[in-house]
Order: sequence, then structure tokens, then C-alpha cells
Amino acid sequence: MKFYYSLFKKQIPLLLVDIFCLMVDVALEMAQPFLMAIILDEGIKKQDFNIIWIVSAIMLAMAIVAILFSVLAMNCSVKIANRFCYDIRKQIFHKIQTFSFKNIDEFEVPSLITRITSDVNIIRQMMTMVTRAGLKVPLMMIVGSVFMFIYNLKLAAIVLAVCVVLCFSIIFIIYRSSPKFQKMQVALDDINQVIEEDIDGIRVVKSFVREDHEINKFQTKNDRLMNLGIRAFQVSSINIPLILFGANICNALILGLGGIDVAKGTSFTTGRLSSFVNFSTIVLMAFNMVSGIAINISRSSACFKRLNQIINVKIDIPYEKKEKTDDFDPSVINDGSVEFIDATFSYSNDKEKLAVGPVNMKVNAGEIIGIVGGTGSGKSSLVSLIPRLYDTLSGQVKVSRRDVKDYDLISLRENIGVVTQKNVLFTGTIRDNIKWGKEDATDEEINAVLKKAQAYDFVHSFNDGLDTLVSQGGTSVSGGQKQRLSIARALIKEPKILILDDSTSALDVETEAKLKKNIYNNEKKMTIFIIAQRISSVMDADKILVLDNGKVDNIGTHEELLKNSSIYRDMYVTQQKGVD
Ligand SMILES: Nc1ncnc2c1ncn2[C@@H]1O[C@H](COP(=O)(O)OP(=O)(O)OP(=O)(O)O)[C@@H](O)[C@H]1O
Ligand SMILES: [Mg+2]
Repeated sequence: MKFYYSLFKKQIPLLLVDIFCLMVDVALEMAQPFLMAIILDEGIKKQDFNIIWIVSAIMLAMAIVAILFSVLAMNCSVKIANRFCYDIRKQIFHKIQTFSFKNIDEFEVPSLITRITSDVNIIRQMMTMVTRAGLKVPLMMIVGSVFMFIYNLKLAAIVLAVCVVLCFSIIFIIYRSSPKFQKMQVALDDINQVIEEDIDGIRVVKSFVREDHEINKFQTKNDRLMNLGIRAFQVSSINIPLILFGANICNALILGLGGIDVAKGTSFTTGRLSSFVNFSTIVLMAFNMVSGIAINISRSSACFKRLNQIINVKIDIPYEKKEKTDDFDPSVINDGSVEFIDATFSYSNDKEKLAVGPVNMKVNAGEIIGIVGGTGSGKSSLVSLIPRLYDTLSGQVKVSRRDVKDYDLISLRENIGVVTQKNVLFTGTIRDNIKWGKEDATDEEINAVLKKAQAYDFVHSFNDGLDTLVSQGGTSVSGGQKQRLSIARALIKEPKILILDDSTSALDVETEAKLKKNIYNNEKKMTIFIIAQRISSVMDADKILVLDNGKVDNIGTHEELLKNSSIYRDMYVTQQKGVD
């Protein structure tokens, strides 16, 4: 709540303007039935044309002023709701940016998208309604009720009794519909998941001719969303007929009982009766709006809950500034040496289900470390511990002889270049993408890393060279080109540690050899971790780590491993057969 209040605080001045406009609008609107009674009783009945003309002119003028204030109030409420939701979206997006990999694993990506778009949109609709009608309606109800009681106590009590019955029905409706709205948002997450997966993998879907399967999968989710929507809105929409029914009962009773009073010639005149009908209609219509608002609030409370889950998420690896001491500066990583000391890691924080470890390995600055092992053997998981994409469950990972947790996270990551297994290019030019690694990089620097990554020739064979546009996901370049651009993006950071996670798998052996020659020949003692499926990619490394089911099978040079590791030898022999 504190979070939303801090965002809403900014809108208070505009809210005050909104309230003022609404109060003027209500006062002018509520005066209308009152003036109407004067025309009927003093003008028409007594045939006083002056009163008829003057009062109807006043009514006209008041109507014009009322609409001006009403439009102004509407403007304020639209601005308040949109600005408030703009801030919510901004804060949620910022929060997601601070998420660790583990936090991202907890939420499904499509669910995050639904929350930041659809959920916030429902809150926006609710806010518009509350700031527009939520303030006006109670005022109208109070003023209308006061006038009704002044005009006729008995009839006012009847209207009030109908309102109380309606009130209970609306509470019941909210109680029934609220959980259904929550389910609807979850169903929307599901449908977005299918859409994202399908569109992201549309090429795979097409190449496997799985369109029908995907259509069926989508249809199931779509049916569920439709059915939940029908049920939620069926329940909540009963309120409109219910209130109209209440209004009709009131009118019948008012005209029946009030009509008798008028016929008897009491102080309850025709004009007052007509005003009373007007006031009771205003009160009941206001009631209708209140129920709409209440349903909207209950619907958006489901959205607030879902957003709160993001806001309250504990960031397990936060970007916090570490204190500098006399003998240690947490923003300085002296060299690229790495040490794993009994390091274990589990995605589920369960020491029975380790993805990695325990791993013990010492890597000197400037060494080249190959990592091999079957799929799922923990290669990617192990290297993700170095830039703290995940933290160890037990044991330690040291960089430059200090625990990685001692460093400022930003400094640590700035010194480590990671080319992930599923590398992504972002919408923009090739230059923009490479500059991700170094914002102020010059074209000369960019071309130099492109040359190192064996990407210079193909980039400059494009008509637009560095200005060539690549789309999100990098679909306009080939897999191998994308890998080389991703390597260039990491190289431009001039990292002390470079991690290549299966980053050369799409390259032909010759290009890979050239690329490796370029990056291995570094004067700056960059430590390189190279994960590969092909033994030929790692056989010239200083040390090769063989992982088996998360555990270290062996560490050694190519020759040593051929002698000592049956897993390595088997991989080598099988791959050699492929070559022969
Ligand atoms: N985000 C995740 N959440 C939960 N489990 C995961 C996650 N990523 C990987 N795993 C599991 O952890 C284990 C190690 O996976 P990892 O990705 O490190 O293997 P890998 O050796 O890199 O495999 P590959 O050669 O296929 O890339 C596997 O059992 C995998 O199922
Ligand atoms: Mg992997």
C-alpha cells in the first residue's frame, strides 16, 4: 500500500482540482430538480410567465456551467489514472530489471508481461472510474437523500430501504465474482505463454508442420479464458438489471403513495413529487455507478495482488554498493584468476538436487579452460556462478583471489564478458548491438572486435555495414553470424574473464580456428572459459574440465584426459568417427 501511496502522492494536487470541479458539477446538477419544482408549482400552476422564463434560463445557464466543470473533472481523472499507471509500469519495469536469474525463474516471462500490461490497464480503468464517478456519486447520493428527506420522510425511508437491500445484493455479487476475475488474469498469463512460445518458435513449428497442434493448444487456453470471462461478467453484470428493478419499484411506490398525498392536497405538491422522483432516480443511478465502481475495485484488487508479488519479491543478488576498506576496493578486479572451492549449486536450493558440484578448480589469469560434458551436465550452470548470475549453494567462487560476493556486482559483471548459449541481439543496428558492451565505442574499436570475432567481412558485405538493422532475436542474421556478433559484443568490453558458452557451435571448423587464434592471442591475460560440444573446440585449451552430472569427472590437458577420462575419450573417439 505504501508503494502505491508514494506513487499516488504526486497526483494529489490534480485530485484536489478534480474534487473541486466535481463538487461544482454536483451542486449545479442537483439544483435542477429543485428549480424544476419551482417552475411547476410557482410558474405553471400560478401562470407566472416571468418565473417560468427566468427559472428555465437559470437552469440552462447552470447546465452549461455544469458541463464545463464536468469536462474539466473528466480531464483531471483521465490524467490522474494514466499518470499513476505510468508510474506503476515504470516502477515494475525497474524492479524486473533488478531481478536475478533466480527471480526470473520464479515468474514466467509471459506472466510478467501480462502483469505489466493487462493488469496495470485494469487498474487504470478502475482509477479513471473512481476519480470520475467515485467522488461525484457519493456527493450525489448524500445531497439527493437530504432533499428526499426534506420533501417526504415516508417516501425517503422507502427509497433508503430499497438501497439497503441492493447494497447486500451487490456485496454478494462482488463476493462471487472477485475470485473469477483473479482466475481470468491467470488464464490470460497462460494464453500469453502459448502465444509467446509459438511466435518465438514459429520457424520450428512450421518446419515440424505442428501448426494444428499449436492451434489446438491455443484453442484450449482461449476457450478457458472465454468461459472464465463469461462467468465472471455474467455474475457481475446482474447488478445493472437489479438496480433498474429497484428503481422501478421505487418509482411505482413513490408515484402511488406520493400521488395520494398530492391528491389529498397536502404540502407535497405536484412539483415536489416530480422533484422527488428526480432525486430518487439520481440516488439510484448513483447507486448503480457505485456498484460498478465496487466491482471494478474488486477486479483490480486481483491485479494489485499480482503486482504486489513483483514489488515484494526479494532480490537475492542485489546491485548493492560494497564498502571500500583500506586493503580492498570492491570495484576493482585485479586479474582474471578464478577459483572454485567446493562450489555447489542447485536451482531449487536443495542439496539433494545439485545441478553443479562440488567443484574444485584453480584457474590462473590468462589461462584457457575448456569445459565439456553431456547435455545437462551442468556446464552453463557452473560458469553462471562466476558473474553471479546465480549464487553457490555452498562453497565459494573466487575471482582475483576474492569471493565474488565481496565485489560490487556491477564491477564484477563489467569485468566478465559472457556469450550465453541462447544469445540474443536486440532490435537496432549492428553498431548499437556491439555498443551494448561499451557505450562510447568508436567505429575503429567496433571494427577491431568484429575482425577478432571473424565478423568483419560479413558485416561489411552488407550494404549498410555497421548500420545494418538486426531485429529482436536477431532473425535477420544467420545463427553463426549471430554467434560472432555476440562474441564481438563481449570482446569490446575488454573483459578480464571471457565466457563462451557453446558460442562457436554454429561456426565451421576453419572459422572457429581463426576466431580462437585471434582471441587466444591476447596480451592482456584474459582468462577464457570455452564450453563446447566438439572436442576440437577445446583440445588446445590449457586445461579441460570434464563434467558428468554436475560433478567433476576429470581436469587435465587433452593428452592427459585421453589417458585418464573414459568420458572424454569416448566423446573424442565418437567425434573422430564423425570426421572420418
Ligand atoms: N533455469 C533452470 N531452472 C531449473 N533447472 C535448470 C535450469 N537450467 C538448467 N537446469 C537444470 O540444471 C541441470 C544442468 O543444466 P545446464 O544448463 O547447466 O547443463 P549444460 O551442461 O549447460 O547442458 P547443455 O549442454 O545442454 O547446454 C540440468 O539438469 C537442467 O535441467
Ligand atoms: Mg548449457
